[in-house]
Amino acid sequence: MKLCMIGTGYVGLVSGVCFSDLGNTVYCVDKDKKKIDSLNNGIIPIYEPGLEEILKRNYKANRLIFTTDFKKAVSNSDVIFICVGTPTKRNSNSANLKYVFDVAHQLKKTISKYKIIVTKSTVPITTGDKIEKILKRLKNKKLVDVVSNPEFLREGEAIRDFIYPDRVVVGTSSKRANQTLRSLYLPIIKKTSRYFNTSRRGAEMIKYASNAFLATKISYINELANLCEKTGVDIKDVSFGMGSDERIGERFLRAGPAYGGSCFPKDTRALIDTANKFETDLSIVKNVIKSNDKRKILLTQKIEKILNKKTNNKIITFLGVTFKPNTDDMREASSIPMMNFLSKKKCKIRYFDPSGEKKELSKIKNVKFCKSISLACFKSDLIIIHTEWNVFKLLNFRKLVKKKNFSIYDMRNIYSPIKMKHMKIRYYGVGR
Ligand code: UGA
Repeated sequence: MKLCMIGTGYVGLVSGVCFSDLGNTVYCVDKDKKKIDSLNNGIIPIYEPGLEEILKRNYKANRLIFTTDFKKAVSNSDVIFICVGTPTKRNSNSANLKYVFDVAHQLKKTISKYKIIVTKSTVPITTGDKIEKILKRLKNKKLVDVVSNPEFLREGEAIRDFIYPDRVVVGTSSKRANQTLRSLYLPIIKKTSRYFNTSRRGAEMIKYASNAFLATKISYINELANLCEKTGVDIKDVSFGMGSDERIGERFLRAGPAYGGSCFPKDTRALIDTANKFETDLSIVKNVIKSNDKRKILLTQKIEKILNKKTNNKIITFLGVTFKPNTDDMREASSIPMMNFLSKKKCKIRYFDPSGEKKELSKIKNVKFCKSISLACFKSDLIIIHTEWNVFKLLNFRKLVKKKNFSIYDMRNIYSPIKMKHMKIRYYGVGR
């Protein structure tokens, strides 16, 4: 099949590369010429394990084309995926749909024979209707089917999530479009996953409902962790004991810092915005957002407490700063507000992250990137394990810190509190 991905951000690039690996010819279009030039030179703008190898393989086989030529890419393709960003609007909760509608207007000018237009970007319920309205002003109304096909890829695990999806959701009432998408996904839906055809609005809703539910699950366990800390219960036992009930499920029950990333914070806000427009009170989701915001403050207060409020000139080391491991993404990472606060409290902050130095932290005073774990930990007063990268899982802190008294705040509960006690290290976890 011939496909076109409009937008070579996370969603467009990963999906485009994976579709090409299934034998399709994929045009990846972006208006950012620099990005397209880089991709044509084999430079990948995002950090995603496994992506480079698949990209290079398919590029060599001429199944993957990176271009700024919108018209050519669209004209040569049967299915067009809209994969542009939908960030939160300034001073509001709603998703900015400018880029999506710009693409729709451009498509209107370009399309002259039947195409299936698919939104993969996360778009609020009824966006498909609006895109259709723009496109149906085409002279021949049968020229397009507008479909919603949300993606459920996790950063850092995107390739596996694409090849082994739990489900593929396709929102359309058009038989023709549904048949085409079913055959496109056939190589992967044959394995274990479900192909689910629903209404277009239904598919749009499923995406938001899924992300908001996962955010709720995390916030729920995080709040329980607060209670565990006061009652001497280990939250890991609670997660295990609860999660073993198949109705609940064990995944996304890991207590930690406030959830971050480009999706949960943005999508929960946008869902509330949609609910407001339809005069519906989604009180649970509203409280999840509040709970997550509070969590950023709560964990920062705990850092202060660990330091006995004596923050002046204290050396604080962050191991991991990204919102989760296996990504270089800093969007809504809770390390940022924590560092801002500690910097104001005159702490000397160092950090090491396997994905390298971060421009998002460069403007915070007293923050320094270290090139290795040992440089970051040497003579530190407090080590904060903020992100659970694998390289942080088997460290000998006594050897690294080379100092008698220091503390560890393990925000991801990687280490055993008992072993830490044996080693006479002041150790704090989350909810234990
Ligand atoms: C999320 C969803 O998991 C994907 O299914 C979805 O496709 C994606 O958003 C999207 O909408 O594009 P992602 O943002 O990559 O994926 O990251 P997650 O793995 O979901 O983690 C989000 C945040 O939750 C991270 O800060 C992570 O540390 C936190 N988390 C996750 C926990 O604190 N505890 C958990 O048990 C799981």
